Amino acid sequence: MNDESRPDAAPSPDDGDRRGFLKQASRAAMAAGLLGGYGGFAAVAGRYLYPARTGEVMWQFVSEVDGIKVGEALRYRGPSGETINIARQARNGDASDFIALSSTCPHLGCQVRWEGQNDRFFCPCHNGVFDPTGKAIGGPPGEAGQSLPRYDLRVENGSLHIAVPPPRLTLMQPDHAGVVAANDGPEGPGHDPCLAPVARPRTERRDVEV
Ligand code: FES
Repeated sequence: MNDESRPDAAPSPDDGDRRGFLKQASRAAMAAGLLGGYGGFAAVAGRYLYPARTGEVMWQFVSEVDGIKVGEALRYRGPSGETINIARQARNGDASDFIALSSTCPHLGCQVRWEGQNDRFFCPCHNGVFDPTGKAIGGPPGEAGQSLPRYDLRVENGSLHIAVPPPRLTLMQPDHAGVVAANDGPEGPGHDPCLAPVARPRTERRDVEV
């Protein structure tokens, strides 16, 4: 039986070295864990605080070219959540047939829609009118000269693609993007505070005993 196997054996100098080594190893493991956790958090926070560089874009599939008829439009949501009207205005079969404009009115943020029959984009909240290129020509946006931001499009092998800003958060993936319902967009009826339903005080009925 050697000294180490005896319970009453006096600690040897090697025991101290071993404990010191184990302590340091566990501290190093803890530090590495914290660095990993904070590193991941910092990466997400950094992406949020310092979003994609201005002008940085990614190309996303929208639809088959034949999927949009002349005079029609669809509503598309980009990976960063922006909503875009894509209208077909000609029949050449290339990107010049289409125009992609922000569907968010620059006046108070209602959703603008394409009116093929009137050859214009229209905002129902305050009768904002935009010509087929997105230039404001009527209503409050016309008076303020607030036109609709435009997005680049291209056609490849019969498919329409759009250039949109990449997602702001690494947690948001490009597959969140896609065609959405025509009335999809930020909350509320056109999400115009002027048109939001007015909350009325509740009137309680009380039966009076006679
Ligand atoms: Fe579009 Fe006012 S919000 S015209």
